[in-house]
Amino acid sequence: MTGQHPRSYSITARLALLFAAALAVLSLAAGGYLYHALTLDLTRRDEDELHGKIALAVEAVRRIDSFADVSQRDSELAHVVVGHDRLTLYVIGDDERVLFATGHPRVPASARAALLASMQPRTFATDTHSVRALGSHARLRSGAPVGVFIESNTEETDRLLASHLREIVLAVLLSALLGLGAAYGIARSGLRPLREMADTAKRISADQLGERLSVEAAPAELRQLAAAFNAMLQRLQESFARLNEFSSDLAHEMRTPINNLIGHTQVVLSRSRSADDYRAALESNMEEFERLSRMVGDMLFIARADSPQTRVNRRPVDLHAVALKMQQFYEPILAERELALSIAGAGRVEGDPLMVERAVSNLVSNAVRHAATGSEISIRIEDGPPATTLAVSNRGQPIPPEVKDRLFSRFAHADTDGRNGEGIGLGLAIVQSIMKLHNGAVTVDSDASGETRFVLAFPAPSVEPRAA
Ligand SMILES: Nc1ncnc2c1ncn2[C@@H]1O[C@H](COP(=O)(O)OP(=O)(O)O)[C@@H](O)[C@H]1O
Ligand SMILES: [Mg+2]
Repeated sequence: MTGQHPRSYSITARLALLFAAALAVLSLAAGGYLYHALTLDLTRRDEDELHGKIALAVEAVRRIDSFADVSQRDSELAHVVVGHDRLTLYVIGDDERVLFATGHPRVPASARAALLASMQPRTFATDTHSVRALGSHARLRSGAPVGVFIESNTEETDRLLASHLREIVLAVLLSALLGLGAAYGIARSGLRPLREMADTAKRISADQLGERLSVEAAPAELRQLAAAFNAMLQRLQESFARLNEFSSDLAHEMRTPINNLIGHTQVVLSRSRSADDYRAALESNMEEFERLSRMVGDMLFIARADSPQTRVNRRPVDLHAVALKMQQFYEPILAERELALSIAGAGRVEGDPLMVERAVSNLVSNAVRHAATGSEISIRIEDGPPATTLAVSNRGQPIPPEVKDRLFSRFAHADTDGRNGEGIGLGLAIVQSIMKLHNGAVTVDSDASGETRFVLAFPAPSVEPRAA
């Protein structure tokens, strides 16, 4: 029924057909058994009758004196089968002559010897019907041997069996048909929960991702499917929300610089200016373009880092070396703002070296920007279970507690000072994405005295299952 067909049949149809087939096979078996039992029973009765009659006939023959008498004493012999139209009795002499017969013998003369030898009923097919025959040796009173045969016409029995067979076949067909109907109904009602699930699924579109299948209401077999489906919806909804947020954030944040560029350019174009003015205008535009380019680059980085498929290429990273690199890199700015950068401790983590550097660099650049002039920035590394940490601290304006958690989201600004125009607000979001990729975390604490400390915590390499 299913075969190698690429087309898949409906479960309802399949169940109904299988059920009907099973029912047909069962009723066929039952019918076959009944038919067989009936055949055996009828045959046995027939054979019993033949045995009984032949015993009577042998008895009657024994009372006949001679071959010549056989035809005279026929009434006694005929009496044996009187009232039984089906039965034919005949007596054969040793010269194969028919001495007596109540009808026309059907069994071929050649088969008589075997019948006599076996003393068992045998069935013979004739042109019109079949007969069952039994033969027995007998002796006349004179001692002369004869063969006594009795045949029964099985026409009636055969007709009876044939009509039973027809009825059985009819019953099988009917029960298969009824079974098909019943099974179709049962399968349909049994599969209703599945259709309901499909209906719910059909209703769900991009703006209705909040809809869920009811797991409790689902039958046990479908509960797992419903739960998996719901989990998929949940993931879809989350990705969709992330995507939405991402594009609206990006559009929102790009609008201001682009509007600035347009406004600025319009002003410059409003009248003719000197070459120096144009140069100054282009330079200012260039700054804005660079900012935009950085923003797009940062957003792409976050999008890639937050994608569930992203994996980190882990290699040992020496945090002390990273800190030294920062010291070198920020040297000019530090000097300009009369800041000092101290490094303490050492530690190794498993991670992507470039990403780790980028996270630390973002923190240091924030610290440099927000540190009070002449103060000291410190990088402190602590190695050891449960986590290896790197903390960047600086003195400056404290971060209000209510905005602390918000700082790590995209385009966040603490609004603690007037310098917010400078940053894009993606630095800490990038730090957080990087730390999540490394199964770590970034936290901040800032006390009222103005000491602000950002801490990167990496899980210890030994407990990291994917450590290279
Ligand atoms: N060391 C710090 N001291 C005070 N405020 C900070 C410090 N680091 C970050 N912030 C606040 O967090 C905000 C977000 O930082 P960040 O994501 O790096 O964006 P950006 O540096 O582009 O402004 C900053 O605008 C600032 O208000
Ligand atoms: Mg920053």
